[in-house]
Amino acid sequence: MSDNLKPFEWTESLTLGVSSMDQQHHQLVDLINKLVDELNKGEPSNIKKQFDTLCQFVVKHFSDEENLMQSEGFPGIETHKVIHKQLLEKVGTFASSIENGNLDKNGLMSFLTMWLKSHIMGIDKKYSEHINGKKGAA
Ligand SMILES: [Fe+2]
Ligand SMILES: [Fe+2]
Repeated sequence: MSDNLKPFEWTESLTLGVSSMDQQHHQLVDLINKLVDELNKGEPSNIKKQFDTLCQFVVKHFSDEENLMQSEGFPGIETHKVIHKQLLEKVGTFASSIENGNLDKNGLMSFLTMWLKSHIMGIDKKYSEHINGKKGAA
């Protein structure tokens, strides 16, 4: 089908150089691509299942990331937490639209793209620079 959604490709610019988080971001891309696959297949119960799996992972990832920022003394942690909270709220609205059967697939895809590109490359990058800068200074 020509209007199939395309999976995301990992690019090196997503690598932060913080291995535990890089690993989780890889898993995140995998889970998003599984969701893309289910969206293309179009079976509502499988879409919902895969979306729930993604949500659970995201909650865990955000909390692991926040714990890391905390233990590394990253000064931007509070702002980053607010951004995570907003992302989770947005995820919640997609969850309810899946529930109600009125999911905007393209809206979801642009949200996920923004997340991977702007959040990881822009926002997550900041704590990695802090952590890697400390390593360099040590
Ligand atoms: Fe992240
Ligand atoms: Fe983050």
